[in-house]
Amino acid sequence: MLWNKTLETGVAKIDEQHKELFVQAEKLLDRSQQQRIPETLDFLKNYVVRHFTDEEALQRRVQYPKSAFHHNLHVDFVGKFKKLYEEYKNNGEKLSVILAINSLVVNWLKDHIMVHDKEFCQFYLKQSQKS
Ligand SMILES: [Fe+2]
Repeated sequence: MLWNKTLETGVAKIDEQHKELFVQAEKLLDRSQQQRIPETLDFLKNYVVRHFTDEEALQRRVQYPKSAFHHNLHVDFVGKFKKLYEEYKNNGEKLSVILAINSLVVNWLKDHIMVHDKEFCQFYLKQSQKS
């Protein structure tokens, strides 16, 4: 699995969802799962949105000051993901698109977690201790 301890945010729900996203992205490259790529892509598309929605709900709960900025990062990612997803559906299910989706999810997510999610989760944990 691509997730490792350095990616831990300390917020269990978010960490679980991040792990799942990496598992699903990895499935795209797993030869034994090739038949299920369309299903995996659909799952990923929905799960990404669900994850971002959950994360943003936590941000609202603690009135995270950077929530609007963070939301824009999520929107940007969803746009990129959907563009590749449509490309896969419309252009004959090419392997190159699958590789691009895998690398988008894995690389974007890693960078995003390390900087933006960790920053938010530290804030969240601090605020939760207060109440
Ligand atoms: Fe995020």
